[in-house]
Amino acid sequence: MTICAPNVGLREITPANRAAAEALTVTAVQAEYVAGVAESLVEAAETPDACPWYRALYLDDKPVGFVMISDGITVVNPDYLGPYFLWRLLIDQRYQGRGHGSAALSLVVKHVRTRTDARVLLTSVGQGPASPIGFYLRQGFRATGQVHQGELVLELDLLTSPSPS
Ligand SMILES: CC(C)(COP(=O)(O)OP(=O)(O)OC[C@H]1O[C@@H](n2cnc3c(N)ncnc32)[C@H](O)[C@@H]1OP(=O)(O)O)[C@@H](O)C(=O)NCCC(=O)NCCS
Repeated sequence: MTICAPNVGLREITPANRAAAEALTVTAVQAEYVAGVAESLVEAAETPDACPWYRALYLDDKPVGFVMISDGITVVNPDYLGPYFLWRLLIDQRYQGRGHGSAALSLVVKHVRTRTDARVLLTSVGQGPASPIGFYLRQGFRATGQVHQGELVLELDLLTSPSPS
């Protein structure tokens, strides 16, 4: 069981910490499955109707990860999954395997649960050797059977699932 470290938290990305957040890296093979922080922030700026909400994950005063969700999409757009969609989650390669991914997810779920209309949190994953699907299944996500833009769609039931560890 993963322990959620109390000194881990989400912080806003501002001009003061943006470069440090953008410097986070995943392994080369993982990078085939997930866009980096800089690209994610550009995507967020270009798609305001996808309601991007993003934060850096800090371990004490050090950025170690990044999360981005669609925080309550209201438009109908076949490109989007929602209304609540975990769009990006990454932990810097030097800090993986220490419970920070599940801590980040737990903090995201805590945030989404503040939205009174939120029933499920969706995400989508690619398949292959470095796919994060096993991580999500361990955290309580289930396959929906849906495929979106070539990725498997997973959902976490916010009403019945316990918070990810
Ligand atoms: C997926 C990712 C976020 C996991 O972060 P992490 O900090 O290494 O994960 P944790 O240490 O919190 O692991 C939690 C549990 O999931 C398991 N786990 C982690 N990655 C896994 C994987 N790829 N497949 C199966 N299980 C995995 C761990 O063994 C651990 O199990 P335990 O609770 O029994 O000990 C991280 O590997 C990452 O950033 N990958 C690259 C980006 C990515 O693919 N993001 C997701 C798509 S946007």
